[in-house]
Amino acid sequence: MAEMIADKEKVSSLIQKQIGEPFPFLSILHSLQDFFGYLPEESLRQVSTALEIPLSELYGTVTFYHFFKTVPPSEHPKVEVCGGPVCCREPLEVLEKKLKEARLSVSHSGEVERISCPGRCDMPVPLFVGNDVFVDARADCVDDLSRAKSPLPPETGLAECLFRDIRKVGKETPQIYKALEQARRDPEAALGNLKVSGLLGRGGAGFPTWRKWEAVRAEKAPVKYIVCNADEGEPGCFKDRLLLDHDPHAVFEGMAIAGELVGATVGIIYLRYEYPETMEVLETSLREVREKNLSPGFSLYVRRGAGAYICGEETSLLNSLEGKRPIPRDKPPYPTTHGLDQLPTVINNVETLAAIPPILLEGGKWYEDLGLGEHAGTKIYSVSGDISRPGNYEMPMGLPLPELIRHAGGIPNGKKVKAVTMAGISGGFLGGEDLEVTLDIPSVAKTGSMLGAGGIIVYDETRCMVRAALACMKFFAYESCGKCFPCRIGTTRSSEILAALKGRSEAVKEMGDLGRVMGAASACGLGLAAPLVTDSLMKYWPDEVKAHMEGRCLAGECPDE
Ligand SMILES: Cc1cc2nc3c(=O)[nH]c(=O)nc-3n(C[C@H](O)[C@H](O)[C@H](O)COP(=O)(O)O)c2cc1C
Ligand code: SF4
Ligand code: FES
Repeated sequence: MAEMIADKEKVSSLIQKQIGEPFPFLSILHSLQDFFGYLPEESLRQVSTALEIPLSELYGTVTFYHFFKTVPPSEHPKVEVCGGPVCCREPLEVLEKKLKEARLSVSHSGEVERISCPGRCDMPVPLFVGNDVFVDARADCVDDLSRAKSPLPPETGLAECLFRDIRKVGKETPQIYKALEQARRDPEAALGNLKVSGLLGRGGAGFPTWRKWEAVRAEKAPVKYIVCNADEGEPGCFKDRLLLDHDPHAVFEGMAIAGELVGATVGIIYLRYEYPETMEVLETSLREVREKNLSPGFSLYVRRGAGAYICGEETSLLNSLEGKRPIPRDKPPYPTTHGLDQLPTVINNVETLAAIPPILLEGGKWYEDLGLGEHAGTKIYSVSGDISRPGNYEMPMGLPLPELIRHAGGIPNGKKVKAVTMAGISGGFLGGEDLEVTLDIPSVAKTGSMLGAGGIIVYDETRCMVRAALACMKFFAYESCGKCFPCRIGTTRSSEILAALKGRSEAVKEMGDLGRVMGAASACGLGLAAPLVTDSLMKYWPDEVKAHMEGRCLAGECPDE
């Protein structure tokens, strides 16, 4: 009884500590889970009362996330292994068997579970043991695994914007935010520079940043918000982690500049759950911002997600911050007019925001000129899979894909490239002549794909593309939020078809039909993107699909069905 009262008081004090902060929902739940190891029902009752969220609604929201737990954990955490599109090429069953017995530097229960891509595709296979992250796990080396520190980007010799200072040893905490001061002195000139720069949003949709900011600026509202989307859940994308780990102040400064120009005084960084070390970096750097008063009049907060790919979609993210079930809102209205708490909100990707300070300091024209031909600026590509030097590469917009592959060291063992994904996996695959595409938004769109956030997974000539497509579709099926049935059912049915093609003579038609329905009737980008996986598979490798329907795998990667 005494214990129960003590727990109740502890929960109360944890809630009270945070309830006055903007959008405390996720922080409160994380602090409770950190304390109890899970979210006991009684603690959720207290949250429900304090935040005035009906208990049934709160339970639905909490259980939506992969990493909030409502049952007590075992004494030691289990080992969570990535089973995403890059890592699933490793012999995971063998690795998992070894991991049950492995001596890691932290104790674990011996239970092993697969998780979605946690954003370390450059260091396969990553493992989580509680909050500890290990990388480069292979079946033949499971003891003494290394920790997941983001590697610095390889040098390319090309002009860079975001990475130009990132490799400087001991890159100092700035004493002032110079670009912010400049924006304060002359806001019109800053907006002008942003317009001239041609900067398009780097989170996937490619919307002109200046337009978004102008729209929020034009709104008359007592409170406005700046949100940084650091949810980065797309398999094959790991650029935002690098930027935040090695240059968090560029992102904070970008947010403070946005606040200055649109009239917002609060900024929130929404960080994906699976980046615990980045969370530490952000907390330390935010303390520096406060101690040195680097962004006077603009307050910054970080909120940690709880594992749900759909929270990267901007309106799901807003719902997540507000403590609602994090499913996409119907649009319009857009966040520029009806964002957080229905107030005008700028929401931008990490890479977009980190580009702002150099653009203001060097000028919009400088940034625009970094691109090739009529394309403006640079783009960071996360390159993984069958590539000699996986990592993040900042390249001019409009660079041919073969050049990027060359910078990343080419395909190992002298093999040829057979396919790449685009936009992480949301752009499906490119193959054949389209592997010559130049990397810019319109050129990639002409192939029927999209550039998106710039994740590129490479497949060499020995890979089975049916297997590759299945791994991607399974991800979409797992992460579909379920709000609309074309996506919820279509992604699951497409996975089932890809998993068992043998003897299914109607498979091509079925996948085509499902894709058309998803493309026409899905409410958000997840359901619109998923058919690109099956469409591109059938477009470039119909012979592989046909062979699978006959029970054969042309690449010899899949067991006979
Ligand atoms: C399913 C889905 C997932 C998304 N995930 C992310 C993400 O992880 N990070 C991100 O910045 N944008 C993501 N987006 C795009 C955002 O909705 C939004 O367009 C972006 O944050 C706007 O910032 P930008 O203009 O700087 O690109 C996602 C969109 C969809 C449909
Ligand atoms: S398309 Fe899929 S992820 Fe998007 S709202 Fe519909 S069910 Fe949810
Ligand atoms: S870390 Fe495994 S697929 Fe991304």
